[in-house]
Amino acid sequence: MTIHMDLGLDSYDIIVERGVLEKAKEHLNLDRRVLIVTDSGVPDSYAKALESQCKECVVFTVKAGETSKSLEMFGQVLQTLLEHGFSRKDCVVAVGGGVVGDLSGFAASAYMRGIDFYNIPTTLLSQIDSSIGGKTAINLCGVKNVAGAFYQPKKVLIDPELLKTLPERQMANGLAEAIKMALTSDKELFELFEKENIESHLDEIIIRSLNIKKSVVEQDEKETGLRRILNFGHTVGHGIESSEEMTGLFHGECVALGMLPMCKEDVRERVINVLKKCNLYRELEYDWNKIAEAAFHDKKTEGDVVTIVLVNEVGSYEMKKVTCQEVIELAKSVLKG
Ligand code: GLY
Repeated sequence: MTIHMDLGLDSYDIIVERGVLEKAKEHLNLDRRVLIVTDSGVPDSYAKALESQCKECVVFTVKAGETSKSLEMFGQVLQTLLEHGFSRKDCVVAVGGGVVGDLSGFAASAYMRGIDFYNIPTTLLSQIDSSIGGKTAINLCGVKNVAGAFYQPKKVLIDPELLKTLPERQMANGLAEAIKMALTSDKELFELFEKENIESHLDEIIIRSLNIKKSVVEQDEKETGLRRILNFGHTVGHGIESSEEMTGLFHGECVALGMLPMCKEDVRERVINVLKKCNLYRELEYDWNKIAEAAFHDKKTEGDVVTIVLVNEVGSYEMKKVTCQEVIELAKSVLKG
């Protein structure tokens, strides 16, 4: 199926189809120099399947993990493009998860002031969320996504077959973002999580999540308002993620916990059940000082105000301005630990 992202001159198609990687050249213009950016955690066969469809191709493999979203790697991707004589007419293709998409999308946005970028996401998280919407970035001095650009891909190919090799924990990591979107925007999707076998409804989960994201991004591409709902659960989630770096919780696993304080009590009970079903529920010892520091690194005082997204009823949301201290107190009272 094709989902069209309507963003004026930056519009593009998102193709969701099992096996689409094998026939990527039917959808992408590969008749030029192509830089494939992938990572060491992605099966080699995925980049190879694409490479075999290209005329002139360079494969650049980064180390799997968030540390590759660095200034150094950004420079190396740009340097590779230059050394191989890429022109403004050539393109970059991401074959990997969010890290690869963020890094290579940002490099594509900067090389010669912007060359074509395609995304072929290989994780559930990137298939339902990060591969569309045009957010690209790297981390700097320990601050996540602080340097980047809104740079829309020219096309996104989503092949759910690629998820067959994805470890279970990575699947759960992606499901957390789908639960996030269901909670703010799609009651039926949330009910699917409650009632149905998730594995056998994966394609529907991907498509429904993409449609939510499409609708939000079309209305607020540059995140001046509505797009903030995609950050539901992320304020506390990011705080937990940074403070839990040593124990290695994944992004989605932290967002799952970060959503709980932002739900009304009866909704929260339902969310906990869904999180348990998806292996996303855990009780932790929280270091609230570290969480506050990480969540509000750009805020100077406790009295600073942030906008949070609350879910009082499944499928709808409320945005509210509260102080950083209030967020932490709320999170403490719900997550305890
Ligand atoms: N993943 C959140 C956004 O794209 O805005």
